[in-house]
Amino acid sequence: MPFFLLKSLLSLVILASALVGIYTAFEVFGRVDQKSNRDNLRKIHRANGILFLVLCLGLTYLCFGFLVRTKAEPNVRVMFHSLLAISVLLILSFKVLATNIYRQFYARLQTAGLILAFVSFCMIATSAGYYLSATKFGKEIPAVGSSEQKKAVGEERAGMIARIDPESIRKGKELYEDKCTFCHDPLSNETLTGPGHKGILKNPRLPVSGKPAIPDNIAAQLRSPFKDMPSFSYLPEEDLLNIISFLNTL
Ligand code: HEC
Repeated sequence: MPFFLLKSLLSLVILASALVGIYTAFEVFGRVDQKSNRDNLRKIHRANGILFLVLCLGLTYLCFGFLVRTKAEPNVRVMFHSLLAISVLLILSFKVLATNIYRQFYARLQTAGLILAFVSFCMIATSAGYYLSATKFGKEIPAVGSSEQKKAVGEERAGMIARIDPESIRKGKELYEDKCTFCHDPLSNETLTGPGHKGILKNPRLPVSGKPAIPDNIAAQLRSPFKDMPSFSYLPEEDLLNIISFLNTL
């Protein structure tokens, strides 16, 4: 399953958990005529809170892993999302501490809960909400690319898109080590036989031909090279896409 789809589905569980949290809190604190099952509602609220915390920590772990592995360049939306996610974790920690240790803050819990609900919705909307609507519920792969690249390519951003799932990156790395490292250094821009590939898809232009650094032009380089590089036109499209997804992480 693509990383972003998995992440989005997990966020929907978080959303459901947030709704349960809000409902139980409103029932306990919001009603004038107190219901008899108040204690049960409190228990549900607490258990649900723990589930919410575990899910948030799990997702944070996944996101960090993804950032480290792909060295993805964060855009404005991703920055906002990270900021909101950090706020969620901080407010949650406050709630846990105020409930269990620093009881003097107990009276602030209700306000903290409302802020938490608000921030959680924004957090989910800026990631899962965006992803699911932009990809028609995971059916299309989202576009990646730095703003510089998009500027370089202008509106004619061509069709091929770098994959970002770990499996594709792993396969691409194997192919790259097998077929490309003889002439290219993935970790620098030093020229061996061909130019180094560090940041190859993050820079606006390809190093030798000066064409826009987009997946299509890498594919073109492999199928019919610009100058002296051997052709890799025998590689199936699948391998090509995997190599590109690895190049995208450099
Ligand atoms: C035998 C040496 C050799 C091998 C193997 C090789 N390349 Fe190249 N590559 C070159 C040379 C030389 C250039 C300089 C441009 C040219 O001659 O086309 C180059 C240029 C490139 C460029 C930049 C093109 C541009 O427009 O600036 C990319 C991207 C590239 N190679 C990717 C790859 C990938 C991916 C592989 C492995 C599948 C690979 N190369 C394997 C020699 C090689």
